[in-house]
Amino acid sequence: MREFDTTAADFDRIPFGEQFTPHMVTAEWTERDGWSPPRLKPFGDLSMSPAMVGLHYGQVVFEGLKAYRRGTDAVACFRPADHAARLSRSAHRLAIPALPEDSLLTAVDLLLQADGGCLPDRPGLSLYLRPVLYANEANLALRPARRYAFLLIAFVTGGFFSDRPDPVSVWVGRDYTRAAPGGTGSVKFAGNYSPSYAAQEQARAAGCDQVVWLDPVERQWVEELGGMNLFFVRGSGRSAQLITPPATGTLLPGITRDSLLHLAAGHGLAVREEPLSIGQWKAECLDGTINETFASGTAAVVTPVGTVRDGAESWQVGTGLAGPVTLALRDALVGIHTGRAPAPEGWLRTV
Ligand code: COI
Repeated sequence: MREFDTTAADFDRIPFGEQFTPHMVTAEWTERDGWSPPRLKPFGDLSMSPAMVGLHYGQVVFEGLKAYRRGTDAVACFRPADHAARLSRSAHRLAIPALPEDSLLTAVDLLLQADGGCLPDRPGLSLYLRPVLYANEANLALRPARRYAFLLIAFVTGGFFSDRPDPVSVWVGRDYTRAAPGGTGSVKFAGNYSPSYAAQEQARAAGCDQVVWLDPVERQWVEELGGMNLFFVRGSGRSAQLITPPATGTLLPGITRDSLLHLAAGHGLAVREEPLSIGQWKAECLDGTINETFASGTAAVVTPVGTVRDGAESWQVGTGLAGPVTLALRDALVGIHTGRAPAPEGWLRTV
């Protein structure tokens, strides 16, 4: 881990999740006092008991949101209230006392006031904010903890894959599943992420960038990538439809996903939240019905999927490059991020 040094940073090769800003915001929860007000501090190591619940039993949830430069003196944070609401839903699922949603907004303001200046005025860069709620009681009884902590840290980042809309290749995970009905797949639980690493390693060994998760029951419905939602474009021109798997409990209802659904409707696209099987995806790519697929997420923004590999088979999506609908939606979203286009009411918080 390195702290951010604006003078030393190479902004052309900025790795995701490494260039932390100099401050963080913390708050604590106790049974007696509830959540304390958020406090700004220097970024620094934490001390913890070896018996901390979050470490042993994973009672930890988080969020990921971004802020973008707005002129020389301000940054604008994208949909922080929606991230605060999702953090509350995640906390509820993990039996963590929810941080008041206003406290997350206050924490974002404190950190951006202190460290917003670390974000250079360069296209493609943003501040990625990472709020986390974790159980920090020292007690290994198998019950919800009686002490919790909140942290907000930030790092400067470019794109998750690249700063340009370069296509990624994806690999269909068949040995593992990501989430089960009634499980934690629809919330941002820390433990949803590391179980994808084994599949992600398999994807890499097959020469691909990301794993595609199928539904856990029938193992045929496409759900999401490891940490990103998926969209498909069926048809083209005036008859183009934008399809994304429905958020029925096993995939994360992404805030970027929601933003794109909103923007697509404004672009005159027919939008459908409906299941798509892996067989349909392949057949409709091969016969040219589906000619674009892209991943969406706070980190990934809008990233085109160029090729899919499923065991020994592989197929190309459209031309294998970013298609026109993908680029138009990406541009509409980035336009809002950068202030080039007006944002819908309540989407931006400028600090
Ligand atoms: C995000 O897109 O913000 C995510 O949370 C995915 C991953 C980087 C954890």
